[in-house]
Amino acid sequence: MSNKRQKILIVFGTRPEAIKMAPLIHDLKKLPNEFEVIVCVTAQHREMLDQALSFFGITPDIDLNLMKSGQTISGLVASVLASVAQVIEGKQPDMLLVHGDTSTTLATAMAGFFAGIPIGHVEAGLRTHRMMEPFPEEFNRQVVSKIARWNFAPTEGNRSNLLSESFEDASITVTGNTVIDALFLALDQIDRDPAQVNSITESLSRQLPFDWRSERFALITGHRRENFGDGIKQICKAISALAKDYPSVHFVYPVHLNPQILWPVQDLLKGYANIHLIDPLGYPEFVYLMKHCFVVLTDSGGIQEEAPSLGKPVLVMRDVSERPEAISFGTVKLVGTKSEAIIHGVKELLDSESAYQKMAQQTNPYGDGQACKRIIEVLRGVHAK
Ligand code: UD1
Ligand code: UDP
Repeated sequence: MSNKRQKILIVFGTRPEAIKMAPLIHDLKKLPNEFEVIVCVTAQHREMLDQALSFFGITPDIDLNLMKSGQTISGLVASVLASVAQVIEGKQPDMLLVHGDTSTTLATAMAGFFAGIPIGHVEAGLRTHRMMEPFPEEFNRQVVSKIARWNFAPTEGNRSNLLSESFEDASITVTGNTVIDALFLALDQIDRDPAQVNSITESLSRQLPFDWRSERFALITGHRRENFGDGIKQICKAISALAKDYPSVHFVYPVHLNPQILWPVQDLLKGYANIHLIDPLGYPEFVYLMKHCFVVLTDSGGIQEEAPSLGKPVLVMRDVSERPEAISFGTVKLVGTKSEAIIHGVKELLDSESAYQKMAQQTNPYGDGQACKRIIEVLRGVHAK
């Protein structure tokens, strides 16, 4: 048994990783006698990462600042692998924590594996079982599972996926998704601090030229690589058709900064009075807007997990999902990426109160806000060995 303080290197790079790792970083830092936490960001995302870090008050110990405009997967994986290998060499951590399935996650886990550092994988076991959907995330997460010592699976379904791939039961802990911890943290701050609500409200009202607190609006996001090209065109076609058919409904789209998304969206959706293209929002602004919207249209993973806690129906513009739980609960529907199907899905909710009420249930299969506590219990067990 060793009582040595464990040195944990936590590496992430994108907006969703920052949001989902932030509460864990906060909780680990409350235990300085047990854990020394080193936060390293690859900055695979720059502006969107910084927005999330700023809300959670996290200042990275190491910032690799690797984002390049229009970066390729291979270029980024290569630079993260080389840079994180150097960080590991310099810091000699006892363990490495990574999250999810991004290029940062894959390359960091590989660097840890090559250096012989045990890896904890937060948000493990999500699968579509189709290597190209989502691309390259399904590949990334399957590879990381192969080399992770600790698999922190959000749901029982995720655990079953790992067991069916013959991973040892003892390596898996069902924790819930840390995004719910993050969401509760944000909601708690919003509820407790009227000054914060004022500043969020003012910021949103500056960006949106309608009364978003009383008028109906759809909140839209999209960024998946499988939707580049035709997918994004279909999505924009659906939004513009809906905007014409429902002039009193607003469509709010904080557009992802990836040029493969930003440029076509700006081109195809400009000039509609009730379509509002805005910059990516800070986390509390986005959560607050989600609280007030009528429906969420998205291909995002994190948003599918958050919205059911707010009782908001989600239409997912993808053909398959690694998050079947809320679909079974009925609060999330997979509508695909064809414009007719998206239009049909939104119209049904706009036109039928009963269809809407069926989906607008406040229940969440992805977590109870205690995921970080469960992860830390496992890490403490390691500490005691
Ligand atoms: C990445 C992840 C995806 C995750 C998504 C979250 C991979 C392969 N993909 O996809 O799993 O769901 O993040 O949003 O890891 N950009 C900026 N500023 C930013 C962020 C992005 O300018 O703050 C632009 C840059 O031109 C950058 C491009 O977007 O090169 C693409 O970013 P990248 O992280 O490679 O891909 P995402 O599509 O964001
Ligand atoms: N989000 C945000 N601002 C926005 C859009 C989304 O803070 O303008 C948050 C959202 O609440 C969720 C996360 O970003 O927690 C999802 O990120 P993204 O959709 O980029 O990635 P994914 O979850 O699909 O990997």
